[in-house]
Amino acid sequence: MKSFFHVSDIGPLDAALKEALEVKANPFGWKHLGENKTIILVFFNSSLRTRLSSQKAALNLGMNPIVLNVNGDSWKLETELGVVMDGDRSEHLREAIPVIGSYCDIIGVRSFAGLTDKEFDYAETVLQQFVEYSGKPVISLESATVHPCQAFADLITIEEYRRTKRPKVVLTWAPHPRALPQAVPNSFAEWMNAADVDLVIAQPEGYELDPQFAGNARIEYDQMKALEGADFVYAKNWSSVKDYGKVLCKDTSWTVDAAHMAVTNDAYFMHCLPVRRNVIVSDEVIDSPRSLVIPEAANRVFSAQVVMKRMLESL
Ligand code: CP
Repeated sequence: MKSFFHVSDIGPLDAALKEALEVKANPFGWKHLGENKTIILVFFNSSLRTRLSSQKAALNLGMNPIVLNVNGDSWKLETELGVVMDGDRSEHLREAIPVIGSYCDIIGVRSFAGLTDKEFDYAETVLQQFVEYSGKPVISLESATVHPCQAFADLITIEEYRRTKRPKVVLTWAPHPRALPQAVPNSFAEWMNAADVDLVIAQPEGYELDPQFAGNARIEYDQMKALEGADFVYAKNWSSVKDYGKVLCKDTSWTVDAAHMAVTNDAYFMHCLPVRRNVIVSDEVIDSPRSLVIPEAANRVFSAQVVMKRMLESL
């Protein structure tokens, strides 16, 4: 595997899920693969789960993980090509990336959408420079438009908890005070569309995801109607794609609470975390036995480990 951005990069999902469950059952079984190999994890943005689960996955495989916090530990990096670098950014990705590539075997990159220039974000301009200039396999650790390690962990979790062959999975928008990127809902929709689930996306008008990710999922503007009979409820905020990066709605009736969960098929609640309690989801829902937020975060180790394992196997 040369890169990991989209569901298509992982190949058949049945095989990927089987491998993830094998890795979870025997996390140190492939420790020899990473001997004398190094992964550099480059973070342009904050992280708790991605940072720790990626390091843990690398260690399970016997690799040496190195974390670089851009803006904190390193020079500030310029990401746009053709600019006059007379501001506060001292080094360009054009030099930094090949240097990073010369020190490692695999690179992971977290680089959020700026939410001001849709063309720049949706071209994955930063991630693509890592592909072009590093010469190494690259993993998106949440980039401008995708968060594939999260979506794969979510799918593993749904596989572990599903009670029917084809569960109803509802991705529901929920309110948030700030404008957030679309990477998590984009990847969740992309992966669920590829999996054997019935995906419904519930959102207010104006929050339609890019069609390349929403695919043929049923779109529902009435959240309660969407939630009826759901087996899994996946809450997430995102900003508008059409009115790029804007917050169009702060309607607190979209906060997932007990009344929302009551119309479901005793659904499990999911969220990628971090989550704002009593904004996205009520305490009673996230603290209930139906909440899967901790198991899905724990599965981040195994989604990352399958991806790194496959990259090591193809070096
Ligand atoms: N879900 C997730 O990616 O969490 P972090 O932002 O803490 O890495």
